[in-house]
Parts: sequence; structure tokens; C-alpha cells
Amino acid sequence: MSKTDELRKIKDEVVAMKGRLADMRREGKYFPVLGEGSHDAEIIFIGEAPGENEAKTGRPFVGRAGQFLNELLEGVGIKREDVYITNIVKDRPPKNRDPQPDEIAEYAPYLDRQIGIIKPKVIATLGRFSMQYIMNRYGLDFELGPISKLHGTVFDTEVEGQSVKVVPLYHPAVALYNGSTRELLKEDFKILKTLV
Ligand code: URA
Repeated sequence: MSKTDELRKIKDEVVAMKGRLADMRREGKYFPVLGEGSHDAEIIFIGEAPGENEAKTGRPFVGRAGQFLNELLEGVGIKREDVYITNIVKDRPPKNRDPQPDEIAEYAPYLDRQIGIIKPKVIATLGRFSMQYIMNRYGLDFELGPISKLHGTVFDTEVEGQSVKVVPLYHPAVALYNGSTRELLKEDFKILKTLV
């Protein structure tokens, strides 16, 4: 099966899901957000969960946080279409609340499969939920700490026998309201650029 076919199979499975978040799609005319970008991306960005704009369009990071993510990518000369952008949770939590542990557990296997198919060299996590999930999942639990300490650090690990670098980053939504986080994110994107 081609990568595109394998990713489409994941999409079909998520579309068919039933559950607390999936069942809310009907109410707000929301769609699941699987992810977008190159299926051969060297960098995969992983956020938390879709917000309202994302769930309405079915595309990740298209709201204000997404515009800032686009600026960050442009700032270091990385094209959005060359990376892959997704989230741990594929459906919008009501009122944009934080994803709950059982929701992360429910959706994370789809993310794991996406990573296995795309085989990125770099996993860039956006925000602490994504950092915690990925570091626990890929053998970096002993390195975990506050995002204020770990952001911009490059961790080496393996995914299915292949070397992968994990780089925790602040969530761009946090940076919208905090000028110093904005600057830190810009600096951390320069580190990302050196890895590909
Ligand atoms: N925040 C996220 O974590 N993901 C999105 O897709 C949009 C906003």
C-alpha cells in the first residue's frame, strides 16, 4: 500500500469513530482533522487538538495560532507544504478545553501510525501535552521536565528502529499572548532548521 493509501485508511477509521468528541461533529458541523502536508516530510509538527477553525475546515493550524506557525516556518525558510502538521487528538474538544487523558489515549494510536508511515527525521512537539505524549511514547520519559526547561532541546531516540530527533517547542497559541515566548519560539525554529 502507498503512504497515501495507508494515511487514507487512518482517515477512514477516524471518520467512522464514535465517542465523546467524535459525536460532537454533527452538532457544530465539525470535521475530524487528520493532518496535512508532505507524506515524505522530514519534520512532523504535533499539536494538541483542533480548535474551532480547524474543526470547521478539517485542516490543522488554520486559525491565529496557525498563522503564527506559518510565520515561524517562513522565518527560517521552511515551506509549510514540505512538512507534515497534525495533532494528537483529531476532534475538537468542546470550548477548546484541554484534551483529557482518555481522549489522548483514544486518538494517540492514529498518531503513532501516522508517524510510522511518514517516517520523519524530526518530531517537533507543540505544547506540553504533545511533548509529554511523544517523550513518554518514544523512550524519553526519563528526560521529561517542564516545557520552560526543555523547549528547543534536541533529544535523540528511535522510532521502529530508525533514528529520530524529538524537539519540544512551545505551543504557538501561547506565544500569541506572550512576547517573550514568541521570541523563544523564533529562536527554537532556527534550531529546527539546522536538523534538516
Ligand atoms: N491548536 C492545536 O493544538 N492544533 C490545531 O490544529 C490548532 C490549534
